[in-house]
Amino acid sequence: MPRIALASAIAATGHDDDQAPLLAACAHAGLDAQVLAWDDPTVSWRRYDAVLLRSTWNYTTRLPQFMAWCERVDRVTTLLNPLPVLRWNTDKHYLADLAAAGVPIVPSVFVETDEEPLTALRDFLALHLDSEEFVVKPAVGAGSRDAQRYARDQEFAAANHIGRLLDGGRSVLLQPYLASVDRDGETALIYFDGDFSHAIRKGPLLRADSDAADALFAREAITARVPVADERSVAGHVLAALAKTLGLATPLAYARIDLIRDSRGEPRLLELELCEPSLFFVHGADSASCFVDVVKRHVAAGPYAT
Ligand SMILES: Nc1ncnc2c1ncn2[C@@H]1O[C@H](COP(=O)(O)OP(=O)(O)O)[C@@H](O)[C@H]1O
Ligand SMILES: [Mg+2]
Repeated sequence: MPRIALASAIAATGHDDDQAPLLAACAHAGLDAQVLAWDDPTVSWRRYDAVLLRSTWNYTTRLPQFMAWCERVDRVTTLLNPLPVLRWNTDKHYLADLAAAGVPIVPSVFVETDEEPLTALRDFLALHLDSEEFVVKPAVGAGSRDAQRYARDQEFAAANHIGRLLDGGRSVLLQPYLASVDRDGETALIYFDGDFSHAIRKGPLLRADSDAADALFAREAITARVPVADERSVAGHVLAALAKTLGLATPLAYARIDLIRDSRGEPRLLELELCEPSLFFVHGADSASCFVDVVKRHVAAGPYAT
């Protein structure tokens, strides 16, 4: 019986809603699955036929250590998704690559650690004169941590936030706040092996009047959603651009595509999640067992060549 490790984090224990359905589907499909924390140094990862990244959410403030762990795992077993994909996808600079490939992304400006916060912010605001609000978030982030929404007249508070992130060695992403999220939420489309599985609606997460979240993840309001044709079309575009950008010969075991509509009503890519996305199995009938079938095939195929 193949043995797989589901990689979580010590701090995520008990918080991953995907875990119970995934473990049940693994047991049903004859996969010996065990949940282990990536930040537990006592684990011997070579004992598993594959290591599947799941709730490793706390890597965002220690990316070098996390990537070093991914590299160690990759040397001794099959890592899902594969290492080059994880390297690329753990930093939201990947959005620039996808924009260059023609994907409609949420308009994004990156601020690097050698830049001056207030100047960078004013340049951004001058580019987006019609945006009443904007978002400051770290380029390496997850679960809305350290992300915050500001009004145009909160320039100094926002510049402070940018400065704090830059001082911590973290690049920053500035985006107009797409207000459609307040009414329509965002749509997350989940693909297994390149095939659409299911989708969910996630309610808005950034309140206008609160400080940046620093919990491991924000509480999310999730419901099942049937994606509209234009969302399916943008998601297809994202997957094609991904394959081209990274030179992937075959589809990835899992991908999640998060979209928000802009002021013209067009869906735009907020995030492409290829590392440790929540897959919301409870909102997709049979989705956990379909996913486990895909994982089994990837494990049998062995390490992914890119
Ligand atoms: N430009 C934006 N417009 C509207 N809402 C946003 C925007 N950027 C982020 N958000 C809100 O913040 C949440 C977290 O941002 P996201 O880019 O998904 O980063 P992560 O999930 O990696 O922390 C989103 O789910 C959304 O609710
Ligand atoms: Mg997100």
